[in-house]
Amino acid sequence: MDQYTIHGGTRLHGEVEISGAKNAAVAIIPAALLVQGVCRIENIPRISDTDTLLTILVELGARVSYINKSTIEIDCTGARYQDAPYDLMRKIRASYYLIGSMLGRFGNAKTTMPGGCNFGVRPIDQHIKGMRALGAQVDVKNGFVYAEALDGRLHGARIYLDKVSVGATMNIMIAAVLAQGRTIIENAAREPHIVDLANFLNSMGADVRGAGTDTIKINGVESLHGGTYSIIPDQIEAGTYMVAAAATGGEVLITNVIPKHLESISAKLRETGTFVEEYEEAVLVRGPEKLHRVNNLKTMPYPGFPTDMQPQFGVLLCLAEGTSVITEGIYDNRFKYVNELRKMGAEVQVDGRVCVIDGGHKLSGAPVHACDLRAGAAMVIAGMVAGGTTVIDDVHFIERGYERFVEKLNALGADITIDYDDGDTDRVSLSSVS
Ligand code: EPU
Repeated sequence: MDQYTIHGGTRLHGEVEISGAKNAAVAIIPAALLVQGVCRIENIPRISDTDTLLTILVELGARVSYINKSTIEIDCTGARYQDAPYDLMRKIRASYYLIGSMLGRFGNAKTTMPGGCNFGVRPIDQHIKGMRALGAQVDVKNGFVYAEALDGRLHGARIYLDKVSVGATMNIMIAAVLAQGRTIIENAAREPHIVDLANFLNSMGADVRGAGTDTIKINGVESLHGGTYSIIPDQIEAGTYMVAAAATGGEVLITNVIPKHLESISAKLRETGTFVEEYEEAVLVRGPEKLHRVNNLKTMPYPGFPTDMQPQFGVLLCLAEGTSVITEGIYDNRFKYVNELRKMGAEVQVDGRVCVIDGGHKLSGAPVHACDLRAGAAMVIAGMVAGGTTVIDDVHFIERGYERFVEKLNALGADITIDYDDGDTDRVSLSSVS
């Protein structure tokens, strides 16, 4: 099994550069299917989720090539509606964006129900509601989603989301860009990657307004043209290094970030006694000698505290003396990592969406499991602060979302080795991409 072995007890010191935002990239890549021409996309994170989506586009007839390590050109001019590699779609959550982009481009879509991390039930009813409002017939059968624009092309509509959903907001935006007439999404999500997707689409000739507020207006256009776009830095990757610096009592300058996107994370870190200084495109984080507990940490849609930082903070609060409470406001079941932390000596109780941490107990190395992407990152942080050796298995989850995680941490002074089953050293193969 693929594993990381971590020798704990090191403080992180130095500078780390953040990659492009995963959750922006995984929407922008499928959205490139709408464009007749070459999209040059800069600051693409090289992670397995983006690799999978690029491979799917290639199978649909796109030409994809790397210009340098983080710049890619995608030309979907020659893409055709055809069966896509369903085994790849099934692996990742973001394959749901292919419903919107294939419908917009071809008037037809067949995708698998999306995969991704398991946090309990993750329905896509709001995506389906949106596509139906735009004039598609949508059926879910045998694990597939079949969608067809009834008039051959989608029509603008007013759509109120019953639940604030990042995925549904972005999927409807993608589908509506080439629809006839105006679409209005109400109760839209406001995450930075939603603004990023809108900016990408607009730079290719779309007319999307209001992204970043709860009402997004999209005036359909006849076609999109090629162009150049640079993806924003990854808020969660940055937050993960911030917590890693705080937890290990180190000092790390985290560069290529937008400090405004990190505000809720910086504010909570300051409550723990961590020093956080913001610069124009960087943050400096210095861990305190003694971490303080926090009263109440609740995850919420942006600009609230992100659910994708909840497990990393769970580890941090295990190190702070006293009782801390975390409430998970987005998912039913995002505390699976707690069982793994208990193996390392953490004292934590979970009741539904609430987790009570009795902090201040020393963590000790143990064999643990990366239950999902962020839980895996949290276990890496736990391993770095624990005494002794921690072995984490199923690390492919971590590599879905963190570019060169081990390399970047080791450059900051961590002591982590990678063991892949097949002896490989770089899992992001991009075999189908020149
Ligand atoms: N929901 C519905 N119906 C829907 C869609 C969502 O009930 O049709 C519910 C979900 O079950 C959840 C809540 O609404 O309780 C919010 O889900 P959302 O749609 O916002 O999440 P998502 O699009 O499935 C994206 C990220 C997640 C991140 C969430 C929240 C991608 C590919 N994934 O998921 O990222 O946790 O937004 O910010 O963009 C991660 O990066 O580790 C990760 C899990």
